[in-house]
Amino acid sequence: MIWLIGNKGMLGTELSLLFAERGLDFVGTDREIDITDPAALEAFTNVKQAEGRHINWIVNCAGYTAVDKAEDDVETCRRLNVDGPGNIAALADKLHARFIHISTDYVFGTYNKPFSTGAREKRPYLEADDTNPIGVYAASKRDGEVRVMENTSGAYVIRTSWLYGKYGNNFVTTMLRLMRERDTVSVVNDQRGSPTWAYDLADAIFKLIDAVEHPIRLAPPPHNIPSFGIYHYTNDGDTTWFDFACAIYQKARELGLLTKDCEVKPCSSAEYPSKVTRPDYSVLDKERIRNEIRILIPTWEESLEKFLKELKK
Ligand SMILES: NC(=O)c1ccc[n+]([C@@H]2O[C@H](COP(=O)([O-])OP(=O)(O)OC[C@H]3O[C@@H](n4cnc5c(N)ncnc54)[C@H](OP(=O)(O)O)[C@@H]3O)[C@@H](O)[C@H]2O)c1
Repeated sequence: MIWLIGNKGMLGTELSLLFAERGLDFVGTDREIDITDPAALEAFTNVKQAEGRHINWIVNCAGYTAVDKAEDDVETCRRLNVDGPGNIAALADKLHARFIHISTDYVFGTYNKPFSTGAREKRPYLEADDTNPIGVYAASKRDGEVRVMENTSGAYVIRTSWLYGKYGNNFVTTMLRLMRERDTVSVVNDQRGSPTWAYDLADAIFKLIDAVEHPIRLAPPPHNIPSFGIYHYTNDGDTTWFDFACAIYQKARELGLLTKDCEVKPCSSAEYPSKVTRPDYSVLDKERIRNEIRILIPTWEESLEKFLKELKK
């Protein structure tokens, strides 16, 4: 059985629906089982074992995700993003369960340092590249990855970026609201990354589990069972927040989700002050996940269109 932790968040809700639709045996929990409390986590697994339900996968979608707020809330952020995943990893190890943990492109900060490989040209980040997180949230996510790896050798850590979906506040839903309310919207044009539809990430997580559980379906060897470690998954291609907003506007107008004009204007990060400096370039290389679970990754444009069509329904 899969234990899905954080099942009421944006990604967790998407995964719950996908697991249910595809007939997986799983149980979901959110705040009621506090990931910062090891005894509560263990008690939950004991109840499930007593019911005869053995947990052999744990997927953690819970976390502290308020990037700016984290600057004034360091302790809570680190308890949730470092201690929590560490607790789950230790428990997964004890249960001999495989553990999937979600991390972020924010582990990579400003793109101006040489990589460990010696490359200086701008190119998508590899899983093995040195991290340089900026701010409390980013550092907590990087330290969470490290803690997970320390506490179990059976973890898959998936870094993703610019997540949006139906079940939470995110850039796409915020843009649609602002475009309805205002005549102009200014969006930063100097940060490059890859938007990711939560549904696609949920599908990739499902396929990772499936590739491990049914390795026979993957041919030819030696890529039979995906090895543990860090993976990158985002939608394919990259863009700036400004170009992403323009694409949202154009598609939403075509689909009739927006019925009035709104001018989308480019601005710089300096004109849009926030507590935390966002990465200026955080495009992630996805060859590892592509090769190990043989998935086709949709482009961000394709997925945005599908998502907006879903919203329209
Ligand atoms: N959103 C993005 O753009 C993005 C980008 C890259 C990576 N990620 C990563 O992807 C993962 C999922 O993100 P998301 O946007 O789906 O997150 P989310 O919507 O904020 O969901 C997190 C869930 O965790 C729950 N939670 C909070 N404290 C908890 C606790 N102590 N014990 C158990 N559950 C608790 C939250 O409950 P409450 O709502 O009640 O607090 C919420 O339901 C996170 O690890 C995040 O860092 C997100």
